[in-house]
Amino acid sequence: MDLLEHQAQELFAKHGVPVSRSRVATTPEEAYAAAAEIGGRVVVKAQVKTGGRGKAGGVRLADGPDAAREVADAILGMDIKGHTVHKVLITEAGDIDEEYYVSLLLDRSNRSFLALASREGGVEIEQVAAVNPAALARLQVDPDAGLGWEEALRLAYDAGLPDDVRDQVASVLVRLWNVCRGEDATLVEINPLAKLADGTVLALDGKVTLDDNARFRQPGHPQYVDVTATDPLEVRAAARNLNYVKLDGSVGVIGNGAGLVMSTLDVVAYAGEQFGGVKPANFLDIGGGASAQVMAGGLEIILGDPDVRSVLVNVFGGITACDAVADGIVQAIGMLNELGETVSKPIVVRLDGNNAPQGRKILAEAALPGVISSDTMDGAARLAAELAGKGA
Ligand SMILES: Nc1ncnc2c1ncn2[C@@H]1O[C@H](COP(=O)(O)OP(=O)(O)O)[C@@H](O)[C@H]1O
Ligand SMILES: [Mg+2]
Repeated sequence: MDLLEHQAQELFAKHGVPVSRSRVATTPEEAYAAAAEIGGRVVVKAQVKTGGRGKAGGVRLADGPDAAREVADAILGMDIKGHTVHKVLITEAGDIDEEYYVSLLLDRSNRSFLALASREGGVEIEQVAAVNPAALARLQVDPDAGLGWEEALRLAYDAGLPDDVRDQVASVLVRLWNVCRGEDATLVEINPLAKLADGTVLALDGKVTLDDNARFRQPGHPQYVDVTATDPLEVRAAARNLNYVKLDGSVGVIGNGAGLVMSTLDVVAYAGEQFGGVKPANFLDIGGGASAQVMAGGLEIILGDPDVRSVLVNVFGGITACDAVADGIVQAIGMLNELGETVSKPIVVRLDGNNAPQGRKILAEAALPGVISSDTMDGAARLAAELAGKGA
């Protein structure tokens, strides 16, 4: 999960990384009040999960509360690279002398973290890396040992940072490591880390990616989930621990195993070309040992999507055999009917693998209206696409 700048700032402050005084505002009036409280010149910053806000006009200076209100009015509602601005951060304007870059990121291939520092901050770091790779100093950080003061100082030195800020930058790096470690972050980045006219070093921007797999041990993190930006079906699916991603087509897809579901999406899209460009409506992996409950939960999510016109259930029986899956489908549809959720959209089921014949027999005997068995993945995808194309 990527955080907004103001959320990153909150975690930075918690771990002692110096940040400027700030307030979040969602209306021009709030921006006025925030600027009045902070006093002096402020910077109004769009809170969207993308970089390059400055260049896009989403970071603007305001001389006082009146100007802050006006600038906030212009920035709120703006579209920055496809992200609508719903919030702005009103923050104390820093008198910047120099801009540096520091970050720590999980380096999966080396099973470690990588710390980066450069004296050429502010601009996009990819550009620095491409044009002047020597200006970007790197250091592998052993996740068990962590980033110590000496190493951090060494990195600041390698990055060519001036004498008078090296200690401050090293201490920021050590604290950034504490953010990584303490918050289970896979990326923390400060660009720019600014040296102000008075010689102090301050994080003027912040990017943090939290590891969702660690959420179980981070009770404070769910507050950062932006429910408004997430598809409501995805929110419901997440609450049931389903692996669901909404897509923009009309064939609902359920399968067991991420690889199978991915290839089902391809096959549906391919078959759909013949029926006026029919596409999959979602990705939904119900996992290996799918019970009737899980199947019912998955079907309910998919059938509740108004864009869905047909459903394709593609299951390869393994540890959970096809007869158990077929029982699950029958029970699931029964459960949904009982809940009053009439299943009116056609459901094409392809069962293969362990106990496939028994599974097909169960479906045939149940003779559920709207449920059609198909023996092959291609055939099933074609049928589902055709039914969706007809607006069945
Ligand atoms: N609080 C601030 N005071 C002064 N200048 C700022 C402040 N925040 C940002 N800036 C300036 O605006 C530039 C862009 O802001 P930044 O937060 O880095 O957004 P982005 O990286 O999305 O463009 C910074 O490089 C810095 O020069
Ligand atoms: Mg930046």
